[in-house]
Amino acid sequence: MTKEDVHVVWHSQAVSREEREQLNGHRGCVLWFTGLSGCGKSTVANVVDHKLHQLGVHTFLLDGDNVRHGLNASPAILGANHDEAFAKRFGLGFSAQDREENIRRIGSVAELFASAGLITITAFVSPYRRDRDAVRRRIEESGQTGDFIEVFVDAPLEVCESRDPKGLYKKARAGELKGFTGIDDPYEAPEQPELRLASAEHSPDALADQVIEYLRQMNRIA
Ligand code: ADX
Repeated sequence: MTKEDVHVVWHSQAVSREEREQLNGHRGCVLWFTGLSGCGKSTVANVVDHKLHQLGVHTFLLDGDNVRHGLNASPAILGANHDEAFAKRFGLGFSAQDREENIRRIGSVAELFASAGLITITAFVSPYRRDRDAVRRRIEESGQTGDFIEVFVDAPLEVCESRDPKGLYKKARAGELKGFTGIDDPYEAPEQPELRLASAEHSPDALADQVIEYLRQMNRIA
């Protein structure tokens, strides 16, 4: 389907992406963090965000748990202000289809933020390769090849499970939480991520420096 097909016409905007990027002094792109729950995605993404901000780079961070309170709220959260049919239709949980929609919406928001000239950082488990690849295609189609930077935060399951910051691995092992990534739902590791961070072996600060160094090498920041 093309953008003209659905009685919704795509308008070009008066201020172009290039003009916004010129004002910012750098191009927009997406740093897509992916990895198991508890691998350190949010922690490292926050450090990267902070370091870039201090360097005068325009950034925004979309973080899993926060987005699941708003844009991608669960049926239970939506049920507080909407009727049951609405909450069921638009609320998202953790089935394969709900995760697909979670990642699709976040990908679209990330695309908008990148085209606003921001270095957009996302931190979601995003366990399915197909869903991440779909976002990659979308970001590269609306920008350039290389605008989607997949950052695999790689920590062994045992390490993530021993950290268990939210006690969810314990619940999953006890069978109280079904379909938990890494336990009874798959995590499909990236095959060729732009960056792999060995998060069990280095501090969040050192890992964030690797990301900053990559952005420098690719001439994305000065
Ligand atoms: S994703 O799979 O759709 O990308 P997302 O990153 O938004 O997941 O949310 C993952 C967080 O939700 C985890 O860090 C964990 O705290 C919580 N969570 C609750 N249920 C599950 C589940 N079944 N699988 C993975 N994470 C879950």
